[in-house]
Amino acid sequence: EENGVRFEVPMEGGQKTGWFYDHRMNRQRLQAYAPGKRVLDVFSYVGGWGIQAACAGATQVTCVDSSAGAIDSVHHNAKINGLDNIETIEGDAFDALKALCDEKEKFDIVVLDPPALIPRRRDQKAGEEAYARLNQLGLRLLGRDGLLVSASCSMHLSQEKLTDIIRGSGRKIDRFVQLLEQGHQAPDHPVVPGIPETDYIKSCFVRSLTGFL
Ligand SMILES: C[S@@+](CC[C@H](N)C(=O)[O-])C[C@H]1O[C@@H](n2cnc3c(N)ncnc32)[C@H](O)[C@@H]1O
Repeated sequence: EENGVRFEVPMEGGQKTGWFYDHRMNRQRLQAYAPGKRVLDVFSYVGGWGIQAACAGATQVTCVDSSAGAIDSVHHNAKINGLDNIETIEGDAFDALKALCDEKEKFDIVVLDPPALIPRRRDQKAGEEAYARLNQLGLRLLGRDGLLVSASCSMHLSQEKLTDIIRGSGRKIDRFVQLLEQGHQAPDHPVVPGIPETDYIKSCFVRSLTGFL
């Protein structure tokens, strides 16, 4: 159970420990924004963000992940929480977001919680470009005054750089962005001063305004 919502997760054969505990407090933060909203949970795994948003009153949630097992778990977790408003897309997130853009779909909230897109220092440039492409697609899918939750678990991407990527992504597609909140890893994942890689989780809660510039 996390933030009052039940999940069944694959402890064996799942990803990480079976659950991505590090974003617990950021998922809790999302609950305040969710009531009455249409939510897109990208890189959803078993639905951690999306199912909690639905339980907090989101009207409809779409979860996107490339793992068939994770998508099966999204459906199961929706069922055990009595939810009938969860849809899923199994496939590559970049392709799925482009397809949703082509179909002119709009969401009130888009959550981007990708795997580390900069796994090694030498992937810095390609990784930053991938974060930029992803954030642009996410912003494109937001309706008026939408909320982008942009997360990163890459230790090679600083909070400042992520904020700058979001700013640049907004600028590129004519969106004015405001940083409402920033989240970090929960205290059960303490940062050890002197070991920079222990400080790795970021989440930016960003309001996207159109027709403002
Ligand atoms: C950091 S985990 C997401 C954790 C999840 N948001 C949560 O809160 O539990 C990254 C997820 O991205 C998925 N994934 C990796 N590459 C992908 C891709 N190209 N397209 C879609 N999903 C992908 C993995 O299957 C994994 O579930």
